[in-house]
Amino acid sequence: MSLTPIGAPRQKITVASLRDRKFQHEPITCLTAYDYSSARLVDEAGIDVVLVGDSLAMTMLGHENTLSVTVDEMLHHVKAARRGIRDALLMADMPYGSYHVSAKEARRNATRFIKEGGAEIVKIEGGEKRVPFIREIIDAEIPVAGHIGLTPQSVNRMGGFKVQGKSLSEIEQLMRDATALDHAGVSCLFLEGIPREVAEMITNEVGTPTIGIGAGPNCDGQVLVFHDILNLTFGPAAKFVRRYGDAAAEITHAVQAFRADVLSHQYPNDKESYHLSGETKQALEMLLERKRSIRGKKNIITID
Ligand code: KIV
Repeated sequence: MSLTPIGAPRQKITVASLRDRKFQHEPITCLTAYDYSSARLVDEAGIDVVLVGDSLAMTMLGHENTLSVTVDEMLHHVKAARRGIRDALLMADMPYGSYHVSAKEARRNATRFIKEGGAEIVKIEGGEKRVPFIREIIDAEIPVAGHIGLTPQSVNRMGGFKVQGKSLSEIEQLMRDATALDHAGVSCLFLEGIPREVAEMITNEVGTPTIGIGAGPNCDGQVLVFHDILNLTFGPAAKFVRRYGDAAAEITHAVQAFRADVLSHQYPNDKESYHLSGETKQALEMLLERKRSIRGKKNIITID
């Protein structure tokens, strides 16, 4: 597989492209992004899927978990990401509560992400019990991504962010969930926080592409959180996170340098300042001089 140079035109990624990738054994790449600039950078770097994840509740808004973020807050970020994306597939996470009350409400909220946010696919967490909701959303011509395993919206039920699928009964349930979502017609399936052996079994079993996070190397694709790969999360990283940059260090360095320059009067310098034209400057000096001689005061312009 050849690597496309950064920013080079490429084919628009669609849900059909994801399925093709699975059959061609070409890994799918996915990263979260939550605003115009990050989405644009991620898209231009050639990532296939930009996920506006509800993880933004934690990474962008500073909440403890993802539960409190609302549809309107998510939409604000999806719209911003939309403006930064040209070729990647834009996926919007449906937040907790937006698809749990009724299938009708799930459909209405999913429709908002497409119509108002410009998303091309929505993602919902949960296994076979979500099938009626998924069918309802797909019936509205909206592609759906499933998400099973460690589903952060189930943090209270799970008693923390814990690896799932470790016992035989949990593995059986995960297999049932994966096949139910596959049969319901999800366009891809996120596998989070499960043993690599289980992720591999699911990946071999389902027709839909799997995208793993903390699920080992044998998924059809991989997703990570933008803030995790850039060290912007202010805490210890999960085992599966690989840091590809240290934006926190870069930002701190730049901010401290700015502060030091201002305190030492080195910013801004003359080249970083706007100037009057010679003509206006001369006219201003003459005006000041006239004022001074009339009023006998220094450097004060009054409006007569
Ligand atoms: O919200 C999110 O960022 C996610 C990914 C971790 C898959 O759901």
